[in-house]
Amino acid sequence: MLTRVVVLMCLVAASSAAPQSFYGHRSVPQRSLHENFPSKSFSRPTLDDIEFRLYTRESRNDPDRLITGNLTLLEGSKFKGHLPLVVVTHGFSETADDSEWMNATKNALLDKTDTNVILTQWQELANGLRYDIAARNTFYVGIALADLLEFLENNTEGFNGSRVHLVGFSLGAQVSGVAGHKYPGVARITGLDPAGPLFEDGNPESRLDASDADLVDAIHTNAGYLLTGHFGYNDPVGHLDFYVNGGSSQYGCPPFIWDSIVEIITLSPGDIDACSHGRAHEYFLESILASEPTLGFQCSDYEKFEVGECFDTPRAAMGYNVTRDAKGVFYVDTQGEAPFFSRHVEVNLTIGEGESTYHGELTFHTVLPGRETKEVVMFSGWPSLHPGDLHKTTLTIPSRTTMDEVPFDVVFHKNYLLPLSPNHLNVESIVAVDTYTEQEYCLASKKVLQTGTTYSLKATLGSC
Ligand SMILES: *[C@@H]1O[C@H](CO)[C@@H](O)[C@H](O)[C@H]1NC(C)=O
Ligand SMILES: *[C@@H]1O[C@H](CO)[C@@H](O)[C@H](O)[C@H]1NC(C)=O
Ligand SMILES: *[C@@H]1O[C@H](CO)[C@@H](O)[C@H](O)[C@H]1NC(C)=O
Ligand SMILES: *[C@@H]1O[C@H](CO)[C@@H](O)[C@H](O)[C@H]1NC(C)=O
Ligand SMILES: *[C@@H]1O[C@H](CO)[C@@H](O)[C@H](O)[C@H]1NC(C)=O
Ligand SMILES: *[C@@H]1O[C@H](CO)[C@@H](O)[C@H](O)[C@H]1NC(C)=O
Repeated sequence: MLTRVVVLMCLVAASSAAPQSFYGHRSVPQRSLHENFPSKSFSRPTLDDIEFRLYTRESRNDPDRLITGNLTLLEGSKFKGHLPLVVVTHGFSETADDSEWMNATKNALLDKTDTNVILTQWQELANGLRYDIAARNTFYVGIALADLLEFLENNTEGFNGSRVHLVGFSLGAQVSGVAGHKYPGVARITGLDPAGPLFEDGNPESRLDASDADLVDAIHTNAGYLLTGHFGYNDPVGHLDFYVNGGSSQYGCPPFIWDSIVEIITLSPGDIDACSHGRAHEYFLESILASEPTLGFQCSDYEKFEVGECFDTPRAAMGYNVTRDAKGVFYVDTQGEAPFFSRHVEVNLTIGEGESTYHGELTFHTVLPGRETKEVVMFSGWPSLHPGDLHKTTLTIPSRTTMDEVPFDVVFHKNYLLPLSPNHLNVESIVAVDTYTEQEYCLASKKVLQTGTTYSLKATLGSC
């Protein structure tokens, strides 16, 4: 198992180091595959390697197989051209056969609306330790999907791309991009942490980009580069790009080394669905099921978002019910475990009168019994703090909870390297706004925080 992963990582690393030759092959994938891998297991993909399984409300667990060109199968199926179609496609080393997230996503979609759902099964082409081959195969699978959509349009009443929503995870997002490029007019593509390795500088025809559908939205959860342990595409790919918890690693997931290497080794064979990467499809599923959306805030970078600089910017709901008329890069914070979705809280702290200067660090901690919660640093690095200064930060509370249900711990630490600096911080007020309800709360008013002491703050509705 270890060997398998190490081989994989080395192969991918080697391929990344030689993008020229790889992309040379990519433009003519048929030939390169055939020439380089004439053996049976690496022979040219055929349509038999790809299965499109149709589910409807009448056939939730009993799919019809659809094959491009086979009218008998289509006419015998439950496909309804007047209903929308959502096509969900898996990523590297996955299979639709026992994929819990695909099954759950299909179930949630059918619960939500009367729709056709197709699960793409391309296990044969996505498996093995050759990520580079799987990456190339996305091209075939995308073309096959485009052909199927054209076949459906040609042979059913009322169906065309305006009804189509493609949803793909990781390499499946790249499959969806190829399909949208080949079959123009697709209404929407949702990329769930689109795969990064080997696609970074690739031709936009062979990966997901904003030209592939009328609306392209993406959820980034493991954005970065493979050599730093990230499987997701780093840059924005669509009309709306949501970077969750900064976009590169997910709160509640093991840190980098565990996330990217050890987790892969210890998961079931062939499973490269590392924690942060896989969160993308968990968030999408939650967005179908949730009664309250989670909102992203347009921002130039995550640091600005975290210090509360982006609450006056356009907002957009993430996931299934995405805000269609918004555009840009949006930041979202979540809880570390399901249910993940949060409300974002804008916090303003005003330094009180008293000493002329304070130096120190202030941290907030949301207190949710039984759940690990994130510590948020309002200021650190031992800044010089003056009476009347305003400091801001972003906190989260779980969706559908209100500020007054959640206590907040706050701790001030003076700068111990400056022994003469005050042992306390005078706070004029701490004001918080639940940005979902727009309700204002007072967390503290004229409070003295002694250094090193944890204070539990209770929010009360209204201004301070
Ligand atoms: C359609 O598929 C069915 C089931 O696989 C097969 O029996 C039939 O021969 C196919 N028809 C055509 C025209 O390919
Ligand atoms: C898919 O979900 C349904 C409903 O929960 C369940 O009955 C079925 O066994 C699941 N199928 C697979 C392959 O997991
Ligand atoms: C769909 O119809 C067009 C026009 O008749 C034809 O050129 C195309 O090959 C058909 N595609 C499929 C997949 O049946
Ligand atoms: C697609 O179908 C919709 C609804 O039937 C229709 O309004 C639209 O004109 C069609 N688009 C194309 C390009 O045929
Ligand atoms: C979906 O979005 C619309 C408008 O953006 C909103 O009115 C509706 O409540 C949302 N539905 C859910 C379930 O989030
Ligand atoms: C925080 O201060 C800013 C001014 O910088 C103001 O626009 C915003 O409304 C304040 N928010 C709260 C929660 O008081």
